[in-house]
Amino acid sequence: MIKVLYIDCCIRRELSRTRILAESFLKLIENNNVYKIEKLCLMDEPLHYFVDGFFEQRERLIGEGRFDHPRFRYSHQFQGADKIIIAAPFWDLSFPALLKVYIENLCVEGITFGCDETGTFGTCRADRLLYLTTRGDDLSDSPLEMGARYLEAMCVFFGIKRFDYIAADGMDLGLEAPQAILARAIQKASDLAVNF
Ligand SMILES: Cc1cc2nc3c(=O)[nH]c(=O)nc-3n(C[C@H](O)[C@H](O)[C@H](O)COP(=O)(O)O)c2cc1C
Repeated sequence: MIKVLYIDCCIRRELSRTRILAESFLKLIENNNVYKIEKLCLMDEPLHYFVDGFFEQRERLIGEGRFDHPRFRYSHQFQGADKIIIAAPFWDLSFPALLKVYIENLCVEGITFGCDETGTFGTCRADRLLYLTTRGDDLSDSPLEMGARYLEAMCVFFGIKRFDYIAADGMDLGLEAPQAILARAIQKASDLAVNF
């Protein structure tokens, strides 16, 4: 079975349009018995950003090579996935801070990346990462878009070769019904699902 890690950062949960897009994609691949999907809902996780003792503990554990500590579970789970899907809405030119906190917890030298005299190199197993989002404004080709670009760079850092993203743009502009915009994004997602 191919292990797919689905990371849900749709803060508005059942009200989230991003989650509708993500669930449509998951339904398409769930029907295919080759995928085993593991869901990680970030809103339900006790995620902490680095401050004081929580930061110091990390430095100490890494220094002692204690990578089996429970706080590194997100890092191991991400490192070992064959494929990764991230769903998060577009917030403040990127994505909710909760996803950044999660990524901060993922970056552990010795698990998700390594370092030698040539610099850093990714050690994640996944061959691809798909990012699904919805955006209030139309950010296609905008220099203000920092979410997909950041995640694409993180894929390079983690050693994940292929990055794709699908964005439903203009959800809050009132120019077109959000359902119609979502339907187009879902169509694009179904094209990607064929050879995921
Ligand atoms: C806190 C917050 C920040 C947002 N920031 C932006 C933004 O910078 N640019 C934009 O185009 N839309 C922004 N939006 C609108 C959302 O991107 C849009 O409504 C999106 O579809 C929400 O996704 P959801 O339905 O999955 O929650 C923001 C919405 C919220 C709640």
